Amino acid sequence: MIEKLRSFIEISDETSQWGPEIWQIIEPRADAILENFYTKTGAFDINVDLTPDTVERLIGKQKQHWRALFSSKFDEEYANSVRRLGIRHREINLDLAWYVLGYAALKVAFTEVIIDSPMPPIKKGRYIKALEKYVAFDMALALSTYGATVFD
Ligand code: HEM
Repeated sequence: MIEKLRSFIEISDETSQWGPEIWQIIEPRADAILENFYTKTGAFDINVDLTPDTVERLIGKQKQHWRALFSSKFDEEYANSVRRLGIRHREINLDLAWYVLGYAALKVAFTEVIIDSPMPPIKKGRYIKALEKYVAFDMALALSTYGATVFD
């Protein structure tokens, strides 16, 4: 199933070569992006408990997750880690609407880093297109644990 999904969104071998390059650009800004993300999330009074200690732990874990995604070979190890992640969010009753918008907010922030990076426009376009695919793929796998049987 993973291969089928990957094929549908057209993550080619070329696309997956760009993952580590994309993460290299984003990583120096990742702490700031994630701090903003959790500050915003906290301000919206979503039904999950985000103490300062939790946030610090989550920033580390999220960074690890994105790093793993962008260096991923879209194999079973990666798929299992996303599955665990989706299940964890389902366990804490994170509403799908917040989960989807959370992904979207992070994707916009990552896109802004690429837009602001000094490189030819054509390269920016390619990276942004690849970023779209990476985030969509991750989100699709995570969300599928909420009820569908895509992993069966
Ligand atoms: C508004 C959206 C979101 C909220 C409110 C939220 C909240 C949380 C909370 C409260 C936990 C802690 C669960 C625990 O105590 O173990 C958690 C775990 C985590 N979240 Fe989110 N989350 C959101 C979206 C996302 C997104 C989009 C990602 C990116 C893929 C993400 C990545 C993670 C990771 C990596 C963990 C750690 C899971 C583990 O323990 O291994 N979260 N999230």
